[in-house]
Formats: sequence, structure tokens, C-alpha cells
Amino acid sequence: MSTIVCPRCAKQHSVDVAKLPDKNSVFARCKSCSHRFPVNVEQLRRIDRSARPGLSQSDTPARKLCVTLSKGGVGKTTTAVNLAAGLALAGNKVLLVDTDTQGQSAYALGVHPPAGLTELLTGELTAEEALVSARNNLWLLGGGRSLAGAKRVIDRKSFGAEWTLSEAMADLENKFDYVILDTSPGWDQLTVNVLFYATELVLPVALEVMPLHGLSEFMQSLHSIQTYREVSLNYLLPTFLDSRANQSRQIHNQLVRLYGDIICDPVRHDEAFTRCPSFGKTIFEFAPGSRGAHDYQMLVNRVERGTPQSVGCPANVTPICGAA
Ligand SMILES: Nc1ncnc2c1ncn2[C@@H]1O[C@H](COP(=O)(O)OP(=O)(O)O)[C@@H](O)[C@H]1O
Ligand SMILES: [Mg+2]
Repeated sequence: MSTIVCPRCAKQHSVDVAKLPDKNSVFARCKSCSHRFPVNVEQLRRIDRSARPGLSQSDTPARKLCVTLSKGGVGKTTTAVNLAAGLALAGNKVLLVDTDTQGQSAYALGVHPPAGLTELLTGELTAEEALVSARNNLWLLGGGRSLAGAKRVIDRKSFGAEWTLSEAMADLENKFDYVILDTSPGWDQLTVNVLFYATELVLPVALEVMPLHGLSEFMQSLHSIQTYREVSLNYLLPTFLDSRANQSRQIHNQLVRLYGDIICDPVRHDEAFTRCPSFGKTIFEFAPGSRGAHDYQMLVNRVERGTPQSVGCPANVTPICGAA
């Protein structure tokens, strides 16, 4: 429940936010003075969500976005951390899940989780016991070296191994607005598990030649997953845009031609990104006025709006590595 106040007579009205229409704003009529006034529904939803104590159950399942690409160094962790932080700042309840043995998400947020995804996957802890609070509205299920043990647990399964993560996460499904998953470079059984769990994909593509090889390779692996379940590529995020470099601009233009609507506004090259993890700060905390903060805010806005378009997976995607 939330409260709205009539701007004319100041009468307070309780409203059930869950029952409001799925629009950004509606008109309300005051029962006391009959004044008709606009109500910002989106803002009400945010206030309602941030007023929820701890991790309460909601009716809507979380949107599950996985930030992935087989190639390392393309900005996956930077994107996962800052997208999660930005969505949390906007009033959403967000869980960031680090599925990488490097455990960089915890480092980037300046937290030291005593346990994490490993303990959840091995059954030593329940989902709620395994996560830690990282910021207001933001929780972390940490990764790290111990995930090697969790991968062995998955390997030993003779049946349904690819659903291990989905089964372990089931209890958390309705406690968050968003689950953001950071993945490791390469393609292993944990990545496959993430792709069987997530429903939306965010692919950061560094605007350099080599990572574009990674993109076409990844598309082919994704195609094999899509034979078994529906997962769509919704956001292709160009990273490391250097608008002074010809190659960077050319590759960006080519991506726009090939992928059209799913291309997000690019994240520009910004030195602040290399410095903020060592302070345990997100880009919004470390350099709020920077272009990096601006660019990730654009991504946050776009994700919140949702994308009408998504791409299945062009199996024979034309390698666009010759862009240089
Ligand atoms: N837009 C950017 N501009 C400059 N440096 C960046 C940018 N995005 C990420 N970085 C830096 O590049 C390195 C690799 O990024 P990271 O997110 O760890 O990639 P991945 O998770 O794909 O391996 C990190 O040092 C990070 O701070
Ligand atoms: Mg990473």
C-alpha cells in the first residue's frame, strides 16, 4: 500500500500499488473534494518497493538478466555491478549474482561476503543465508575461487545438471525486482546453468576487433541453448567507445546496422572505471558526474523501460571482425 495526497484539499488516500494499471501515470479523483489530479504510478511503485522491509515476498517474479560474453575484458563485471547498483538506486530490489571464480563483483562493491553462490549450490546454506547486503536495495551472492567446488557438484549430477542454479535460486524468485548475473569468460557448466536460468541477456561488446570474434562465437553457442529453452538477447551494449578512434566508430556503426533495436547507447571509454573498483565503489559513487556514470544510467533507464524487441539468435551471424 502507498499513500497519495490530494493537491487541492490535502486529504490522504491509501492506494494498493499492485492494483494500479500498468502505466507510468494515471488520473485520480479525490473522494473528498472531487478534484482530478495526475498520479505518477512509476514513482509510487518505487516508494512502495523501497518501503518493503528486508526481503519480503512479492507477486511478480524478478526479471533475470545475465551479463555475458565468452570473451574476457569486455566490461561484463563493470556492467553487471553498475547496472545492479543503478537499478537499486532507482528504488528496485536487486540481487547481483557473481558466477565467476575471480569474485570481482564483491571487490568492486567493497564487500567481503563470508559465503556465497558456492554454499548455495552445494546446499550448505539456504539462498537467504548465502547472500549479503551490499547497499540499500542491493544484495550480493558472491562468487570466487570456491566456485570450482560447486562446478564439481554440477558435474557429478547425472541428470538435469543444467538446472542446478535455477533450482537453488527458486526461493529468491519473488523477493527481488531484478536478478543480475555476472559470468566468467569462457563457456563452462556454470555459464550453461546461468543461460538456463536467465530470461534476458545483456552482451557487452568492446568496440575492438577481437571481441567481435567473441560475439559471433557466443551467438552460435547461445543458439544451441535456445533449442532447449527460451532466452532472448535483449541488450547489446557497446563498451569502450572511443569516439576519436576511427575503428571504434566503424565497429559501432556496423553493430547498429546488424542488430538495430537491441543496440544500447554505448558506454564510452572512461578512466574512472579502472580506478573505482579499488575503492570498492560503483561509478555512481566514485564519479557521479562522469560520462561513465551517465552511460550506465542510460542502460539502467533502458532496462527499466524494457525492450519490445529482442533477437532470438542468428545462428550464422556474419562475422563482423573485418570492420577495422
Ligand atoms: N568503459 C570503460 N572504460 C575504461 N575502462 C573500462 C571500461 N569498462 C571496463 N573497464 C575496465 O576494463 C577492465 C575489464 O573490465 P571488466 O568489467 O572486468 O571485464 P570482464 O568482466 O568482461 O572481464 C577493468 O579494469 C575495468 O575497470
Ligand atoms: Mg568479469
